[in-house]
Amino acid sequence: MKERIEELRSGFSLALSAATDDAALEALRVEYLGKKGHVAELMKGLRDVEDKKAAGQLINTLKCDVEAAIAEAKEIMRRAAIDRKVRSAKKYNPTLEGGAELGSYHPITLATREVEEIFISMGFTIENYNEIVNDYQCFEALNIPKHHPARDMQDTYYLDNGQLLKTHTSAAQNAIMKKYGAPLRAIFPGRCFRNESTDACHENTFFQMEGMMIDENISISNLIYFMKTMLSEVFKRDVKVRLRPGFFPFVEPGFELDINCEICGGEGCPSCKNSGWLELCPCGMIHPNVLREGGIDTEKYTGFAFGLGLTRLAMMKYGVKDIRDFNSGSLKALSQFKSI
Ligand code: PHE
Repeated sequence: MKERIEELRSGFSLALSAATDDAALEALRVEYLGKKGHVAELMKGLRDVEDKKAAGQLINTLKCDVEAAIAEAKEIMRRAAIDRKVRSAKKYNPTLEGGAELGSYHPITLATREVEEIFISMGFTIENYNEIVNDYQCFEALNIPKHHPARDMQDTYYLDNGQLLKTHTSAAQNAIMKKYGAPLRAIFPGRCFRNESTDACHENTFFQMEGMMIDENISISNLIYFMKTMLSEVFKRDVKVRLRPGFFPFVEPGFELDINCEICGGEGCPSCKNSGWLELCPCGMIHPNVLREGGIDTEKYTGFAFGLGLTRLAMMKYGVKDIRDFNSGSLKALSQFKSI
């Protein structure tokens, strides 16, 4: 038995020094320590040995030594692999010459900032809100119950868990009313999503800027004043606008505020669907149901809300003829805004 153990020991150290990868080590482990391995075979052989205790101890030491040697060899290999990886990785060179071209702001960013500045000067705060919302925020809280036909115009992308990509920035109205209560003046720009067939003036992903003003005695005149002031500031001149009745369940009365198409000067072009006017800012007096749902006392307060089409505004301001350019990632189109 003793000789057999010695023989196995030297066999093992030879095989171990020849093993160059994990697979070889594993094979060696199975050969020695596996169910049908050498150690198991020695244990079986114990039956025929006289001094079982001494022989058993020898087998056990062999088993422990083999285990330890294999573990050590594995660790050495693991470290060597990390070492190789580190050595072959490209080194960061802090002295690398500059010369990278400067980027430029996206036109939507520029338009957002400009409108934000204007509203800040009129006492509004800026709020940020999620792109993923739930049905309550996007519809229910806005007086659009399930199965209401107004939902048809705002089909969107639904997640498996029932959440959805917001179809309009109005989805934040409820949360913001609950956060601040009345009186309230806030704007909240955001990316919106709709299931839309795309063309020169429609996109499935676009930006809006929502605004809300809630206080005592707020009326349609306040709404028109704020809209006209903002647009004249953005376009740096008196802008022609028209107000049409518009239906949105969360405002009453509701309007569509159109501006004269800046691209064709009102003659008609693909960007304005040949009408000379562009729907830019749906708006209206906030529906009492919506105020109530936001925890506002409707006996005391009224308010207006608007949903400025930021993407459309950027088109008008910078003369972008095709809305699809914004999300195209085309540097030819987008890098023109470098100097602005
Ligand atoms: N959320 C509406 C839309 O995207 C626009 C809107 C906002 C209308 C606020 C009225 C008041 O269609």
